[in-house]
Amino acid sequence: CGIIGCIGRGGETLDTLVHGLENLEYRGYDSAGVAVGGDDLGVRKTSGKIEQLREMLDSDPVSGTVGIGHTRWSTHGPPTDENAHPHQDCTGGVAVVHNGIIENYQSLRDDLTAAGHTFTSDTDTEVVPHLIEEELDRGATPEEAFRTAVGQLEGSYAIAAIIDGTDALFAARNDSPLVIGVGLDAEGTGTIDVTEGPYFIASDVPAFREFTARVIYLEDGEFARFDDGITVTDAEGTQVEKAVETIEWDAEETGKSGYDHYMLKEINEQPRALRQCLRARVDELGSSVDIDTVGDLSPSGLQFVACGTSYHAALYGARLFEQAGIPARAYLASEYATSPPPIGDDLVVGITQSGETADTLSALREAKRRGAETLAVTNTVGSTATRECDHALYIRSGPEIGVAATKTFAGQLAALNLFALATAEDSQTRRSVIPALRDLPGDIQSVLDNSTAAEIAEQYADAESFFFIGRRYQYPVALEGALKLKEISYEHAEGFAAGELKHGPLALVTDQTPVFALVVGDGEIARKTVGNIKEVEARDAPVVAVTDGQSDAELYADHVLEIPETHPRAAALLTNVQLQLVAYHVANNLGRPIDKPRNLAKSVTVE
Ligand code: G6P
Repeated sequence: CGIIGCIGRGGETLDTLVHGLENLEYRGYDSAGVAVGGDDLGVRKTSGKIEQLREMLDSDPVSGTVGIGHTRWSTHGPPTDENAHPHQDCTGGVAVVHNGIIENYQSLRDDLTAAGHTFTSDTDTEVVPHLIEEELDRGATPEEAFRTAVGQLEGSYAIAAIIDGTDALFAARNDSPLVIGVGLDAEGTGTIDVTEGPYFIASDVPAFREFTARVIYLEDGEFARFDDGITVTDAEGTQVEKAVETIEWDAEETGKSGYDHYMLKEINEQPRALRQCLRARVDELGSSVDIDTVGDLSPSGLQFVACGTSYHAALYGARLFEQAGIPARAYLASEYATSPPPIGDDLVVGITQSGETADTLSALREAKRRGAETLAVTNTVGSTATRECDHALYIRSGPEIGVAATKTFAGQLAALNLFALATAEDSQTRRSVIPALRDLPGDIQSVLDNSTAAEIAEQYADAESFFFIGRRYQYPVALEGALKLKEISYEHAEGFAAGELKHGPLALVTDQTPVFALVVGDGEIARKTVGNIKEVEARDAPVVAVTDGQSDAELYADHVLEIPETHPRAAALLTNVQLQLVAYHVANNLGRPIDKPRNLAKSVTVE
């Protein structure tokens, strides 16, 4: 879900709020709403996308100088008008937006119902405005009422509230991100004069990046009051001095820049993203890697935890360390959180683009609780993962808006290479891998410029199933190729370790199931994968070889997607670009909403 709040310089906030919601739509998009106040509090909300909210507001506008908005991805209750945020109390004088899960909501709701409150939604959030109403009835000031209500919540939350008749906005966070945007020219720390506004509160920076680059990160347990200034306090109400930081990327980077979809833009941004990732970290001679203090770690064993695409990066990372002779294993974060393995002296590495995935945070916390040292490999500076882990390695991919991760997967693989080279590998390996990493931006550009993935996608868009096979570094890419296709095309796809195909999945292979085989180099691994190609070819499956042409894979394939020759570790990023393009074009041929696939969200902040 996404949250935006805004308090203007006495001006109207509605337009800014709706803009903010559009910027946040990638956080969830099954319903949306706004509440605007100052004098008269007005709420408009609807199931469906922000467009529908805009239409509603065009015919039935609201007006005010302070407001909050929300775009939802359902966790409690289906995406209906009633379940859309903001939620209100019985009087309609309190409006609340919330991300996260309130674990004790049922008992709070029972108590409030017994006290005469009526609920209109299935959400956990709705208890919050009613709790605030209770406190206001007891004579509390709006700020006291908000603080006391939030104090009763257990679970994760990022909350923003406005209260009728009060030209103020209240916010609090625990285990769910919230960041303050400081109006264009304001300076300084602590309480800031509102004449310098407008001010924003949001679940992530892109919500308000077009208005300001200056941000204050709220920490867990902190409260913020926006009225004639911003005041941040701790849970006890003691004022906390906060630093104003400046975001380095600009609003244009979050636009589509002429591409039909964010996903295609982000696929094409990979050369640049990798240049950013590698900048000043590898030297020209290919002999050294500088990743700050992360490079000083010397893990004797590693456990990687991650979800989705990041889990595929984790498999790749574990493979790098294993090959360097250091025990390493990748775990699905959701499994690790509830069934953690023995940790010993292992370094626990969370790979998470957003730095906010609840499953991954939960696994990292479990590791920490058991005494492990933790590292976050992430794209998001200031994210919860970076603040909670002992160390952070940034992938520097820039903001990624398309729900399906593309350039951040490339950034993760590149950063994991740097990490392994700096902490586990010798100078000989460095001298063979670093030049290949340095060539990656150019090699990816050549794949992008010459790919025939669109033609292959057109030919097979109606296939029954798509299979992907690869070995060693190409195995995680096979899994990722299948996940990408599933996510955005809704077609059935599976990735397999190439050698495993004959142990079961081969039964699924027919002339209706194209098999994408990832084959690099001309060594034993390539020869064995070519053997697997022959197995599927004998079952009449169309074969697409994604290859650097060094083996004889092309002889047995119906189609070839070429990549330049490079180090096998770097080749994983190149074959992956071909598979990203296949997924994109299959989905595009089928007319799918590529940037916002059904049922998925970019950042899943619930377990
Ligand atoms: C969600 C997204 C996936 C993503 C996963 C992990 O499920 O839909 O695309 O790979 O979260 O995200 P993270 O931010 O932790 O890398």
